[in-house]
Amino acid sequence: MDIKQPKGTKDWLLGEVEAVEQVEQALINIAKLYGYAGIRTPMFEHTELFTRSVGDSSDIVRKEMYTFMDKGDRSLTLRPELTAGVIRSVVEQKLLHTQDLPLKLYYVGPAFRYERPQLGRFRQFHQFGVEHIGITSPLSVAETIATGITVLEMLGFENVTVSINSLGDEATRLAYKEALKSYYEPHLANICEDCKQRFQTNPLRLLDCKIPSDHQLGLQAPVIGDYLSEASQAAFKTVQEALTSIKIQWKLDPQLVRGLDYYSDCVFEYHFVSKTGKDYGAIGAGGQFPRLVEELGGPSVMSVGFAFGIERILALLTDAGRLEGVRSYVDLYIISMEPLTDQYAFRLAHNFRYTNFKTELNLEHKSLKSSIKSAVKRDAVYAVIIGETEMKSNIVTIKNLQTQEQQQVPVGEVVHLMQHLTNQPGHHHHDEEGDHHE
Ligand code: HAM
Repeated sequence: MDIKQPKGTKDWLLGEVEAVEQVEQALINIAKLYGYAGIRTPMFEHTELFTRSVGDSSDIVRKEMYTFMDKGDRSLTLRPELTAGVIRSVVEQKLLHTQDLPLKLYYVGPAFRYERPQLGRFRQFHQFGVEHIGITSPLSVAETIATGITVLEMLGFENVTVSINSLGDEATRLAYKEALKSYYEPHLANICEDCKQRFQTNPLRLLDCKIPSDHQLGLQAPVIGDYLSEASQAAFKTVQEALTSIKIQWKLDPQLVRGLDYYSDCVFEYHFVSKTGKDYGAIGAGGQFPRLVEELGGPSVMSVGFAFGIERILALLTDAGRLEGVRSYVDLYIISMEPLTDQYAFRLAHNFRYTNFKTELNLEHKSLKSSIKSAVKRDAVYAVIIGETEMKSNIVTIKNLQTQEQQQVPVGEVVHLMQHLTNQPGHHHHDEEGDHHE
């Protein structure tokens, strides 16, 4: 077949799916430990949502969005990130009026960016994130940053560092933008076309440029930290002190401005370089967004949040050898030896699945040896063998594939016996609960 997967996408195959499910489940459990509730919003939104939130001077909106007209002539966009949709929903569904504040929401799902694919960078990728909406203290910012660190530690990462910076408040940024413009003005003729536009629309974005000469220029540029208003300075100091007090490894990165327009004050990025030396880029990132809720029609509240890239987490865990052994397996492998025994085996498989055994049914009538081989390949714990003799005398043969021990069991007892052998509570439990009700 000559149809290939679209560039920048990933097919999740055997074992990888189990790994991603396991990681996502772990992330969700941790979010719940911290009191976050789940939210799911659509994968596409009106384009305007992103131009207004992520911002029309950001690279994401300018170059990376999958935007299309639907059959009703609406401009829609596959979400490039999840924060905008979550806040849109929170405002639209009036959650800030009906729920206690702060509102704590987590999400997992795909996002889409038309970026140049490379190590750790895809066009469809997945994010796990949290939004902590309606906070009142910079300590809640520190708490959220620490939550991200704990998430990574609970997944098994060690020595995660978080880079932090403050983009200040409105007053800060006005003063800083002016300083940046005066700094860049003499270089205008030499910077790239994108940067020329950034100079006009949003000078802060100048610092994001990855073109080497422009990047170099950015390194010498004034830093926003020198322009922080008093209020922003105090808030940022509180965040730093709080992080230090709980021994979070943080470092100040004065160049960190983040690629989305909705941030103010504290922004942060989590870094972890693989043991193999591979750098997949930031594993996660986030920041405070004080105006987004209001800009989308809600009340004026302060919020903070972050998102992790699931592909990057998985790549790092794989490199660290922490995902080995994650694969699909069955408890029981039922082998029907001939057409005559198929119905019998079919019913037995059904019963096993209803009693919570992962069960595979083999109706291929191959030699016993090759069927056992298939059972071993599926990592089955027991093979359940059914031939004509067994069926006629209402028994089955069970074979422990680890010890090779084999025994014959009356079919009426096999479920119970398997529960006993595999330590599955099943039967017993039910009986006991039944007694209680009497
Ligand atoms: P972001 O920094 O654009 O922030 O993305 C967060 C994370 O998503 C990145 O650190 C990275 O791990 C992952 N990621 C981003 N782009 C790609 C890609 N093309 N391929 C693979 N992984 C990628 C946000 O999206 C904000 N919404 C985070 C946030 C939540 N801020 C406040 N609340």
